[in-house]
Amino acid sequence: MEKLQQLYEGKAKKVYATSDENLLIVDYKDDATAFNGLKKGTIAGKGVINNKMSNFLMQLLEKKGVPTHFCEEISDRETVVKKVSIVPLEVIIRNVSAGSFSKKYGVEEGIVFDEPTIEFSYKNDELGDPLLNAYHAIALKLATRDEIELIKKMAFTVDQVLTEYFLGLGIRLVDFKLEFGRLADGTIVLADEISPDTCRLWDVKTNEKLDKDRFRRDMGGVEDAYNEVMKRLMGNK
Ligand code: TMP
Repeated sequence: MEKLQQLYEGKAKKVYATSDENLLIVDYKDDATAFNGLKKGTIAGKGVINNKMSNFLMQLLEKKGVPTHFCEEISDRETVVKKVSIVPLEVIIRNVSAGSFSKKYGVEEGIVFDEPTIEFSYKNDELGDPLLNAYHAIALKLATRDEIELIKKMAFTVDQVLTEYFLGLGIRLVDFKLEFGRLADGTIVLADEISPDTCRLWDVKTNEKLDKDRFRRDMGGVEDAYNEVMKRLMGNK
């Protein structure tokens, strides 16, 4: 697959055109940001880990019936994906209280919910990704009601599959953010990435944080945490 011109550079990835109009190449960077880009840094080796981990999990999800944008890993940092137009919603599932949930509702981190929660943010950096509900998303024409229902269903399936899989590795899937896209024919597929940048992952036994919160909160041991998740997930592949 020939890599052509760069189409877009985001905070963590670059996206390139290819000779096939329906396919793109994503290139994962080591750059890390938090708080809508206010905090900037580098996590050495993150691009490789996020690329491989995301591809591994997307293939697992495909096997469980969740369609994704994944096509083919072509290098440590680069993957061919199906071209989508991103639905401008950040879809967040939570199994355990943490982060903005704990802050907003004044509860400690670590409360295990009886059932998962779902919330949406409007993916818009200028507005700071404001929280919205399905009615707001429809009013803003970000997605149709049918699309939102499908996205919800897919997101809860992703939660079930990944929660079980991570538990087998001694990791609790606390919460995560997903993004979905539309193929040219309108089919909704899981897109973007699933990585320690976009999930909270805690060691089951020690509750040690194995994700980007170590960077957000200046806890140190960021690279070690990413490497630990990678090791448990894929051995030394
Ligand atoms: P939050 O508790 O800060 O709302 O984050 C919930 C989950 O979403 C957490 O796993 C981190 C992830 N997330 C992103 O992937 N991107 C973002 O911009 C934010 C704010 C959170």
